[in-house]
Amino acid sequence: MHAIRETTIALFCAVLIIGLASVGSAADNKAKSEEEIGIRHETLYDEKAVKPAHGEYGKADPGSSKPIGRAFENSPPLIPHDLTGMLPIAQSNNSCMGCHMPAAAEAMGATALPTSHFFDIKTGKDLKGELDGKRFDCMQCHVPQVNIPEPIRNTFKADFRTKKAKTSSNLLENLNEGVKAD
Ligand code: HEC
Ligand code: HEC
Repeated sequence: MHAIRETTIALFCAVLIIGLASVGSAADNKAKSEEEIGIRHETLYDEKAVKPAHGEYGKADPGSSKPIGRAFENSPPLIPHDLTGMLPIAQSNNSCMGCHMPAAAEAMGATALPTSHFFDIKTGKDLKGELDGKRFDCMQCHVPQVNIPEPIRNTFKADFRTKKAKTSSNLLENLNEGVKAD
């Protein structure tokens, strides 16, 4: 008798769970159409109506632009100035270096390349003032900004340990922080 009653209860529960699950998914399907799933609110099967938001890059020349606050400690700083005539960066022409190499930076009023860019982080070798080849393509890490509304508001708040870290970097000094070498 007991066995039969337990089986009946188990069956009842199973039917109830399946029932609830299908009600749930039906309600979900009704609440969100495919167009509503993504950030762009367009069909996922066609690109025709998708117009990415475009903005204008800053037009202030180097020397008259205002550095943008660092996103987080030791993040690559964003480029605040106009880049007209500076791109593309080519093997024979890297205008960024013309103003940002330490020897030129002070006279240009530009932030000098940090020590980390003259150091092979992979091998730990100090390159004695020579730019690490992996740093040659500045735009791989440093990018300009446009002023357009964010599709989703960014609520990230960085924790800076010092006031100085908000406007300048010191990655090489604390790269091995917390790492114990033998
Ligand atoms: C003609 C000189 C000049 C050239 C060329 C130049 N810059 Fe600059 N850059 C500056 C100056 C000066 C500043 C400081 C802001 C200002 O005064 O406009 C600056 C600021 C920056 C900053 C922000 C630094 C900070 O502390 O926040 C970055 C990043 C940067 N430049 C990257 C680049 C890259 C990448 C290139 C090459 C595509 C480049 N710059 C080419 C002069 C130059
Ligand atoms: C592989 C990514 C990468 C490349 C390539 C790169 N940078 Fe950086 N850059 C960073 C990061 C990360 C920081 C901040 C941490 C640090 O000090 O290294 C930084 C910091 C800087 C700073 C701020 C220095 C300071 O004292 O606050 C300047 C200026 C700069 N880079 C310019 C350049 C220029 C110009 C080039 C090209 C010649 C370049 N970077 C190439 C990642 C990169």
